[in-house]
Amino acid sequence: MKKLIPSYIRVPLIFAVVMAGMEYFIDSGDKPAFIEYPMVALFLGVFLFLLIAIEIVVSAVDKVTYHLLTDEQKKQLEEAQSMSFADSKFMKMLTRSKDIDQEDDVMLDHDYDGIKELDNVLPPWWVGLFYACVVFAIIYLIRFHVMGDYTQAEEFVAEMEQSDKQVQEYLKNAPDLMDKDKVTLLTDAPAIAEGKKIFESNCVACHRPDAGGAIGPNLTDKFWILGGGIKNVFNTISEGGRSGKGMVPWKESLKPTEIQKVASYVLSLQGSNPKDGKPAEGDEWVEEGAAPSTEATTEVVETVVDSTKTE
Ligand code: HEC
Repeated sequence: MKKLIPSYIRVPLIFAVVMAGMEYFIDSGDKPAFIEYPMVALFLGVFLFLLIAIEIVVSAVDKVTYHLLTDEQKKQLEEAQSMSFADSKFMKMLTRSKDIDQEDDVMLDHDYDGIKELDNVLPPWWVGLFYACVVFAIIYLIRFHVMGDYTQAEEFVAEMEQSDKQVQEYLKNAPDLMDKDKVTLLTDAPAIAEGKKIFESNCVACHRPDAGGAIGPNLTDKFWILGGGIKNVFNTISEGGRSGKGMVPWKESLKPTEIQKVASYVLSLQGSNPKDGKPAEGDEWVEEGAAPSTEATTEVVETVVDSTKTE
């Protein structure tokens, strides 16, 4: 049998298709499946081995059978192999074209200055396509113009909603879209709850479950060593504290969105005043643009200046 594709292309091609298929269907996170799961690598190795073995066996069988053929059969085989794709049965079936030596059968008898016309049948591939289009058109007409399934405007809206969802999904997991300049304080309950979970599994050892402070400082007061407010707190958690103090950069193990949540949770504890909290460390943090605290205003002594008075 003549092979359309030589084995040195066929083997890598089949292998690549199988490997791509496995990568597509096996969810292995960021890493390729064959690194994440050793079984996959093993399977691919065995598969490649079998593929090569089959190639070798088939070509050996081909060679042996060729030697067993009579001269007559060898000739037939060579003839069959030299036949081009255009002459194949498959192409004949698709086109039903007449061979040149049978053209007289379909020749029409007009003759325009030597230009003659053949009356070939319509090629079956074309006729099939035509009927398929007719069927499609009927179904389309009934579905959209008679039953009024949905309009293009509705389709557009649905697609936009779908892509909006995908954008949201992407933003949720996109790593670099959040940094200390863009971060905002989250106040919705689910985000705070997630932040609490992250806090409980990573931070309580040094900051205590109520954030009152142990090895790490009290996180519930208005005093911050490294600056308060969501941007500074996000930055501290992400980049860590001063070196040697024990607060490591959490960006290595938490995603920016997780840091945002835990930072928001920490800030939600402001003023919770836990029992036996560590004494305040650092400077009092006043939110930029925030109204001065009420304590401060009550202390302001009003000095009335009589502008009409002259010295
Ligand atoms: C190994 C102990 C340890 C762990 C675990 C730890 N911290 Fe800290 N944390 C510290 C220390 C110590 C400091 C003080 C750093 C400094 O003085 O520079 C600190 C400082 C901080 C500050 C700044 C406080 C200020 O006054 O400026 C924040 C916010 C904070 N930690 C949040 C967290 C969060 C959130 C986690 C969990 C993801 C966490 N920490 C886990 C030890 C820890």
